[in-house]
Amino acid sequence: MNLYLNGEYLPLEQGRISVEDRGFQFGDGVYEVIRVYRGKPFRLAKHLSRLEQSVKGIEIPLPEPLQKIEEVCRTLLKGLEEAQIYLQVTRGAAPRMHAFPQDLRPTFVAYARAVQPHPPDRVFSLKTLADDRWGRCHLKTTCLLPNILGKQKAVEAGCDEGLFVRDNGTVTEGTSSNAFFVRGGALFTHPADNRILNGVTREAVLEIARQQGVRMRHQPVTLVEAMAAEEAFVTGTLTEIMPAVSIDGKQVGSGKPGPTTLKLRTAFRELIAKECV
Ligand code: PDD
Repeated sequence: MNLYLNGEYLPLEQGRISVEDRGFQFGDGVYEVIRVYRGKPFRLAKHLSRLEQSVKGIEIPLPEPLQKIEEVCRTLLKGLEEAQIYLQVTRGAAPRMHAFPQDLRPTFVAYARAVQPHPPDRVFSLKTLADDRWGRCHLKTTCLLPNILGKQKAVEAGCDEGLFVRDNGTVTEGTSSNAFFVRGGALFTHPADNRILNGVTREAVLEIARQQGVRMRHQPVTLVEAMAAEEAFVTGTLTEIMPAVSIDGKQVGSGKPGPTTLKLRTAFRELIAKECV
Protein backbone atom coordinates (compact mmCIF):
# COMPACT_ATOMS: atom_id res chain seq x y z
CA MET A 1 0.00 0.00 0.00
CA ASN A 2 1.97 3.01 -1.21
CA LEU A 3 -0.91 5.47 -1.58
CA TYR A 4 -2.99 7.33 0.98
CA LEU A 5 -6.09 8.96 -0.52
CA ASN A 6 -8.66 10.77 1.62
CA GLY A 7 -8.21 8.59 4.68
CA GLU A 8 -7.58 5.24 3.00
CA TYR A 9 -4.40 3.28 2.20
CA LEU A 10 -4.43 1.71 -1.28
CA PRO A 11 -2.08 0.42 -3.96
CA LEU A 12 -1.09 3.47 -6.08
CA GLU A 13 -2.77 2.17 -9.25
CA GLN A 14 -6.12 1.92 -7.45
CA GLY A 15 -6.32 5.61 -6.56
CA ARG A 16 -9.32 7.39 -8.16
CA ILE A 17 -10.11 11.11 -8.11
CA SER A 18 -13.27 12.81 -9.37
CA VAL A 19 -13.19 14.50 -12.81
CA GLU A 20 -14.72 17.45 -10.97
CA ASP A 21 -11.81 17.73 -8.58
CA ARG A 22 -10.71 21.37 -8.62
CA GLY A 23 -7.09 20.27 -8.72
CA PHE A 24 -7.81 18.63 -12.09
CA GLN A 25 -10.01 21.43 -13.47
CA PHE A 26 -8.29 24.56 -12.13
CA GLY A 27 -4.92 23.51 -10.74
CA ASP A 28 -6.53 24.56 -7.45
CA GLY A 29 -4.10 22.87 -5.11
CA VAL A 30 -0.69 22.70 -3.51
CA TYR A 31 1.95 20.00 -3.18
CA GLU A 32 5.21 18.89 -1.61
CA VAL A 33 7.99 16.56 -2.71
CA ILE A 34 10.13 15.04 0.02
CA ARG A 35 13.34 13.08 -0.56
CA VAL A 36 13.90 9.93 1.45
CA TYR A 37 17.40 8.61 2.13
CA ARG A 38 17.95 5.17 3.68
CA GLY A 39 14.24 5.05 4.47
CA LYS A 40 14.31 8.38 6.35
CA PRO A 41 12.64 11.53 5.02
CA PHE A 42 14.99 14.52 4.82
CA ARG A 43 13.65 17.55 6.74
CA LEU A 44 10.06 16.31 6.82
CA ALA A 45 9.07 18.96 9.39
CA LYS A 46 10.19 21.75 7.03
CA HIS A 47 8.18 20.29 4.16
CA LEU A 48 5.11 19.92 6.35
CA SER A 49 5.34 23.46 7.62
CA ARG A 50 5.67 24.72 4.02
CA LEU A 51 2.61 22.64 3.09
CA GLU A 52 0.76 24.37 5.89
CA GLN A 53 1.88 27.78 4.55
CA SER A 54 0.85 26.85 1.00
CA VAL A 55 -2.68 25.69 1.92
CA LYS A 56 -3.10 28.79 4.04
CA GLY A 57 -1.88 30.94 1.16
CA ILE A 58 -4.68 29.72 -1.11
CA GLU A 59 -7.32 29.36 1.63
CA ILE A 60 -7.68 25.59 1.70
CA PRO A 61 -8.08 24.02 5.15
CA LEU A 62 -5.39 21.52 6.14
CA PRO A 63 -6.96 18.10 5.30
CA GLU A 64 -5.45 16.37 8.35
CA PRO A 65 -3.43 17.58 11.34
CA LEU A 66 0.30 17.77 10.50
CA GLN A 67 1.01 15.00 12.99
CA LYS A 68 -1.33 12.69 11.08
CA ILE A 69 0.29 13.66 7.74
CA GLU A 70 3.67 12.84 9.24
CA GLU A 71 2.37 9.44 10.35
CA VAL A 72 0.99 8.83 6.82
CA CYS A 73 4.39 9.65 5.30
CA ARG A 74 6.16 7.22 7.63
CA THR A 75 3.62 4.49 6.90
CA LEU A 76 4.02 4.93 3.12
CA LEU A 77 7.78 4.60 3.40
CA LYS A 78 7.77 1.04 4.72
CA GLY A 79 10.11 -1.08 2.62
CA LEU A 80 11.58 1.87 0.68
CA GLU A 81 15.16 3.14 0.98
CA GLU A 82 15.91 5.74 -1.73
CA ALA A 83 12.52 7.27 -2.41
CA GLN A 84 10.35 10.36 -2.74
CA ILE A 85 7.06 11.18 -1.11
CA TYR A 86 4.54 13.27 -3.04
CA LEU A 87 1.84 15.12 -1.09
CA GLN A 88 -0.99 17.03 -2.75
CA VAL A 89 -3.95 18.89 -1.33
CA THR A 90 -6.65 20.29 -3.60
CA ARG A 91 -9.74 22.29 -2.70
CA GLY A 92 -11.87 19.19 -3.43
CA ALA A 93 -14.52 18.06 -5.93
CA ALA A 94 -17.69 20.02 -6.76
CA PRO A 95 -19.73 21.09 -9.82
CA ARG A 96 -17.49 23.44 -11.78
CA MET A 97 -17.60 27.10 -10.79
CA HIS A 98 -14.76 29.55 -10.36
CA ALA A 99 -15.60 30.83 -6.87
CA PHE A 100 -15.08 28.41 -3.99
CA PRO A 101 -18.12 26.18 -3.39
CA GLN A 102 -19.28 26.04 0.24
CA ASP A 103 -18.27 23.25 2.63
CA LEU A 104 -15.86 21.45 0.34
CA ARG A 105 -13.77 18.64 1.73
CA PRO A 106 -10.19 18.95 0.44
CA THR A 107 -8.73 16.05 -1.52
CA PHE A 108 -5.56 14.73 0.10
CA VAL A 109 -3.18 12.47 -1.77
CA ALA A 110 0.11 11.09 -0.48
CA TYR A 111 2.24 8.45 -2.10
CA ALA A 112 5.79 7.18 -2.10
CA ARG A 113 7.91 5.94 -4.97
CA ALA A 114 11.47 4.67 -5.27
CA VAL A 115 13.95 7.08 -6.88
CA GLN A 116 17.18 6.49 -8.71
CA PRO A 117 19.93 8.57 -7.07
CA HIS A 118 21.95 10.87 -9.39
CA PRO A 119 25.43 9.70 -10.36
CA PRO A 120 27.67 11.48 -7.79
CA ASP A 121 29.49 13.56 -10.43
CA ARG A 122 26.42 14.66 -12.44
CA VAL A 123 26.37 18.26 -13.69
CA PHE A 124 23.65 20.38 -15.34
CA SER A 125 23.55 22.67 -18.32
CA LEU A 126 21.00 25.49 -18.04
CA LYS A 127 18.78 27.21 -20.58
CA THR A 128 17.40 30.67 -19.84
CA LEU A 129 13.64 31.22 -19.97
CA ALA A 130 11.42 34.26 -19.63
CA ASP A 131 9.97 34.23 -16.10
CA ASP A 132 6.32 34.80 -16.97
CA ARG A 133 4.97 33.23 -13.77
CA TRP A 134 2.52 34.85 -11.39
CA GLY A 135 3.50 36.96 -8.39
CA ARG A 136 3.05 34.28 -5.70
CA CYS A 137 5.81 31.82 -6.52
CA HIS A 138 6.53 31.38 -2.80
CA LEU A 139 3.46 29.12 -2.61
CA LYS A 140 4.06 25.57 -3.83
CA THR A 141 0.96 25.32 -6.00
CA THR A 142 0.18 22.71 -8.63
CA CYS A 143 -0.23 25.51 -11.24
CA LEU A 144 3.02 24.52 -12.91
CA LEU A 145 2.43 25.29 -16.60
CA PRO A 146 5.24 27.87 -16.93
CA ASN A 147 7.54 25.43 -15.13
CA ILE A 148 6.75 22.36 -17.23
CA LEU A 149 6.70 24.27 -20.55
CA GLY A 150 10.00 25.87 -19.57
CA LYS A 151 11.57 22.57 -18.56
CA GLN A 152 10.45 21.04 -21.85
CA LYS A 153 12.05 23.92 -23.76
CA ALA A 154 15.26 23.35 -21.82
CA VAL A 155 15.21 19.62 -22.55
CA GLU A 156 14.51 20.24 -26.25
CA ALA A 157 17.55 22.54 -26.29
CA GLY A 158 19.63 19.66 -24.92
CA CYS A 159 19.81 21.18 -21.42
CA ASP A 160 19.02 19.77 -17.99
CA GLU A 161 17.19 22.65 -16.34
CA GLY A 162 15.61 25.98 -17.27
CA LEU A 163 16.66 29.20 -15.54
CA PHE A 164 13.94 31.83 -15.15
CA VAL A 165 14.96 35.41 -15.95
CA ARG A 166 12.60 38.31 -15.29
CA ASP A 167 12.08 41.06 -17.83
CA ASN A 168 14.18 43.39 -15.66
CA GLY A 169 17.10 41.05 -16.39
CA THR A 170 17.35 39.37 -12.97
CA VAL A 171 17.58 35.63 -12.46
CA THR A 172 14.97 34.18 -10.11
CA GLU A 173 15.25 30.37 -9.96
CA GLY A 174 15.07 27.15 -11.97
CA THR A 175 11.86 25.45 -13.15
CA SER A 176 12.06 23.09 -10.18
CA SER A 177 15.14 24.32 -8.33
CA ASN A 178 16.73 27.37 -6.71
CA ALA A 179 19.76 28.98 -8.31
CA PHE A 180 23.06 30.04 -6.70
CA PHE A 181 26.03 31.91 -8.21
CA VAL A 182 29.54 32.51 -6.87
CA ARG A 183 30.86 35.98 -7.68
CA GLY A 184 34.00 37.45 -6.17
CA GLY A 185 34.05 34.48 -3.77
CA ALA A 186 30.59 35.30 -2.34
CA LEU A 187 27.50 33.17 -2.83
CA PHE A 188 24.50 34.96 -4.35
CA THR A 189 20.93 33.69 -4.35
CA HIS A 190 17.59 35.39 -4.91
CA PRO A 191 16.02 36.50 -1.61
CA ALA A 192 13.13 34.37 -0.34
CA ASP A 193 10.34 36.66 -1.48
CA ASN A 194 7.23 36.13 -3.64
CA ARG A 195 9.35 35.62 -6.80
CA ILE A 196 10.78 32.22 -5.80
CA LEU A 197 9.91 29.11 -3.88
CA ASN A 198 12.01 29.09 -0.73
CA GLY A 199 13.44 25.60 -1.12
CA VAL A 200 14.05 23.30 1.79
CA THR A 201 17.33 22.45 0.07
CA ARG A 202 18.07 26.18 -0.40
CA GLU A 203 17.70 26.70 3.34
CA ALA A 204 19.95 23.73 4.09
CA VAL A 205 22.57 25.18 1.72
CA LEU A 206 22.38 28.54 3.48
CA GLU A 207 22.95 26.80 6.83
CA ILE A 208 25.93 24.89 5.46
CA ALA A 209 27.38 27.99 3.79
CA ARG A 210 27.20 29.83 7.12
CA GLN A 211 28.96 26.95 8.90
CA GLN A 212 31.63 26.81 6.21
CA GLY A 213 32.27 30.53 6.40
CA VAL A 214 31.11 31.19 2.83
CA ARG A 215 30.05 34.84 2.40
CA MET A 216 26.36 35.04 1.51
CA ARG A 217 24.42 37.66 -0.46
CA HIS A 218 20.63 37.33 -0.47
CA GLN A 219 20.50 39.37 -3.61
CA PRO A 220 19.39 38.62 -7.17
CA VAL A 221 21.99 38.60 -9.92
CA THR A 222 21.36 39.77 -13.46
CA LEU A 223 21.73 37.31 -16.31
CA VAL A 224 24.86 39.17 -17.40
CA GLU A 225 26.32 38.66 -13.91
CA ALA A 226 25.20 35.03 -13.84
CA MET A 227 26.94 34.38 -17.16
CA ALA A 228 30.14 35.88 -15.77
CA ALA A 229 29.93 34.00 -12.45
CA GLU A 230 32.85 31.91 -11.23
CA GLU A 231 30.50 29.09 -10.31
CA ALA A 232 26.81 28.27 -10.48
CA PHE A 233 24.62 25.53 -9.06
CA VAL A 234 20.97 24.71 -8.60
CA THR A 235 19.32 23.04 -5.62
CA GLY A 236 16.16 21.07 -4.98
CA THR A 237 14.71 18.09 -3.20
CA LEU A 238 15.32 15.80 -6.17
CA THR A 239 18.09 17.89 -7.74
CA GLU A 240 20.09 18.10 -4.47
CA ILE A 241 23.12 20.37 -5.10
CA MET A 242 23.79 20.23 -8.81
CA PRO A 243 26.73 22.10 -10.35
CA ALA A 244 25.65 24.14 -13.40
CA VAL A 245 28.48 24.18 -15.92
CA SER A 246 26.88 26.14 -18.76
CA ILE A 247 24.13 28.69 -19.42
CA ASP A 248 22.73 28.83 -22.96
CA GLY A 249 25.74 26.90 -24.19
CA LYS A 250 28.24 29.31 -22.65
CA GLN A 251 30.60 27.80 -20.09
CA VAL A 252 30.27 29.00 -16.49
CA GLY A 253 33.67 29.66 -14.90
CA SER A 254 36.04 26.82 -15.74
CA GLY A 255 33.18 24.74 -17.19
CA LYS A 256 33.63 22.30 -14.30
CA PRO A 257 32.11 22.23 -10.80
CA GLY A 258 33.91 24.93 -8.80
CA PRO A 259 35.52 24.64 -5.35
CA THR A 260 32.70 26.37 -3.42
CA THR A 261 30.06 24.19 -5.11
CA LEU A 262 32.02 21.03 -4.38
CA LYS A 263 32.64 22.03 -0.76
CA LEU A 264 28.92 22.70 -0.23
CA ARG A 265 27.92 19.51 -2.01
CA THR A 266 30.21 17.43 0.19
CA ALA A 267 28.86 19.14 3.32
CA PHE A 268 25.28 18.59 2.09
CA ARG A 269 25.95 14.87 1.66
CA GLU A 270 27.38 14.78 5.18
CA LEU A 271 24.29 16.56 6.49
CA ILE A 272 22.05 13.94 4.87
CA ALA A 273 24.18 11.14 6.32
CA LYS A 274 23.89 12.77 9.76
CA GLU A 275 20.16 13.50 9.65
CA CYS A 276 18.84 10.46 7.79
CA VAL A 277 19.93 7.65 10.10
N1 PDD B 1 10.36 21.39 -6.84
N2 PDD B 1 11.80 26.25 -6.97
C1 PDD B 1 10.83 25.60 -7.62
C2 PDD B 1 10.03 26.34 -8.63
C3 PDD B 1 10.57 24.25 -7.33
O1 PDD B 1 9.58 23.60 -7.97
C4 PDD B 1 11.39 23.57 -6.38
C5 PDD B 1 11.18 22.13 -6.03
C6 PDD B 1 12.41 24.29 -5.76
C7 PDD B 1 13.30 23.67 -4.70
O2 PDD B 1 12.61 23.45 -3.50
P1 PDD B 1 13.01 22.25 -2.52
O3 PDD B 1 14.45 22.39 -2.24
O4 PDD B 1 12.16 22.47 -1.33
O5 PDD B 1 12.70 20.98 -3.25
C8 PDD B 1 12.57 25.63 -6.05
C9 PDD B 1 9.96 20.04 -6.57
C10 PDD B 1 11.03 19.15 -6.11
C11 PDD B 1 9.17 19.51 -7.74
O6 PDD B 1 8.35 20.25 -8.25
O7 PDD B 1 9.36 18.35 -8.12
